[in-house]
This record gives sequence, C-alpha cells and structure tokens, in this order.
Amino acid sequence: MRKTVIAGNWKMNKTASEAAALIEDIKKNLNAEEKAEVIVCVPFTDIAAAVEHTKGSVIKVGAQNVHFAPSGAFTGEISASMLVEAGVEYVIIGHSERRQYFGETDQTVNQRLTAALAGGLKVIVCVGESLDEREDGVTSEIIVRQTKIALKGVSAEDMKKIIIAYEPVWAIGTGKTATSEQADEACGTIRAAVASLYGSEIAEATVIQYGGSMNAGNAKELLACENIDGGLIGGASLKAPDFATIIHSC
Ligand code: PGA
Repeated sequence: MRKTVIAGNWKMNKTASEAAALIEDIKKNLNAEEKAEVIVCVPFTDIAAAVEHTKGSVIKVGAQNVHFAPSGAFTGEISASMLVEAGVEYVIIGHSERRQYFGETDQTVNQRLTAALAGGLKVIVCVGESLDEREDGVTSEIIVRQTKIALKGVSAEDMKKIIIAYEPVWAIGTGKTATSEQADEACGTIRAAVASLYGSEIAEATVIQYGGSMNAGNAKELLACENIDGGLIGGASLKAPDFATIIHSC
C-alpha cells in the first residue's frame, strides 16, 4: 500500500508572518493524525517560521529549489545542507515554472536531485508536458524522458526518498485540471518508466502525485485513481480550509 502525500506549493507567496498565520490556520483544520502525509513547500524566507509553527504537528516543511553544489560562489543560491540545518525535510525540484522562467533543464534537475539526496533531503521532482506537446501526441515521450533523466544515478535504495509529481504545464494555475483519466494514464506511464529502471516492486512503491489546479472540488476524484498517490497543490494550498478538504479527500 502506497502512502498518500499532499504537498502545498506556496510558490512566491506569503511573508514569514503570513506563513505562520496560514500554518496555524491549517493546523486548526487538521486532526491529530491524518491518513495522508502533509507537506508545505514554502519560500526560503518562511522556512524558520514554518519549522517553528509545524513543530509537534503532522505537517512537514519543504523548500522549492536547491542548488547542486554543496557550497561556493553561486550568488543567490541555497544548498541542501543549509536547508537541512534549517529543518527542511523535502524539496521540490524541476517545477515547470523553474524550467520555463529560470533555465532549468533535465540535466540541472538531475544535478539538483542527486545533490539534494546526498545532502539528506527527500525530493518531489516535477515532470509534465506543455499544451503543444500534448496536442502533438508526445506526452508519454516527454514525461518518460524527464523522469528517466531526473533519476539518472539514483540508487534503488534512494528511490524511497523520491516523490514524482506529474504536472501538465497547461493545468498549472489555469483552473484547467487534467481529467482523472488523463492524470491517471500519465501517472501510470511514469510508474512504468520507473519500473523499466528499477523493477516493478520499486515502481509499485513509488509515490506519484498529480498537480495542476487540484482543488477542494476535484481532489476526491483525482485521488481515487489507481496511479495517483497524492497531490502537489499551488493555489488551493494557500487557503487553509481548501487545503484541509483536499487532505481529507484521500
Ligand atoms: P496550481 O499549481 O495548483 O495552482 O495549479 C500547482 C503547482 O504548480 O504545483
């Protein structure tokens, strides 16, 4: 049985004091024990507040990016050891917004991912096709390529620390959700790609999330799909009652 993992991707939203308030609000909406694993991936400047306010709760803290070098002359970047010492457990890598606006490539995704693992972080790695790619009928090829390159050099043992998020670019922040059939099919394709690399036992144990306009209204149907083991949620994770509803849809 795979666990269900619901992660909020706050993107560039919330100051530290706003983060504290939102986490308090989320906690009020959650039970002492939840079936799903719950993560909030916050901006770097919110990490200290998030760690403090999630203490003793079921909520874990994630970051939204990490550099591939352990230290050095990389102005503006943050290393895995910095995140770990700050109390971060997870990091999102390869989000389409980073691929689109910040020059992230399959190769740098792989570099960041292996550095994150080496530094002691767990990873949520994002893959997903653009609208053009879907319309051109190459969705499977794109997500298999992104998955395989992202995982290059990752040991079978380390696959336990990896969550893969299928996020069709055309569904992110657009209010356009993939149908549950589309999302389940793509997550199944990713699972098959993991099986081709690591065998079916590891593929069956790998958590694969769907992300892209998941909300309180559509979460239940998406999360009921065989191959969808959770969600990476942007907009709806900024509203505590909606985020809690998604968590309780598992
Ligand atoms: P969205 O974002 O839920 O606002 O579409 C999801 C994501 O980008 O991770």
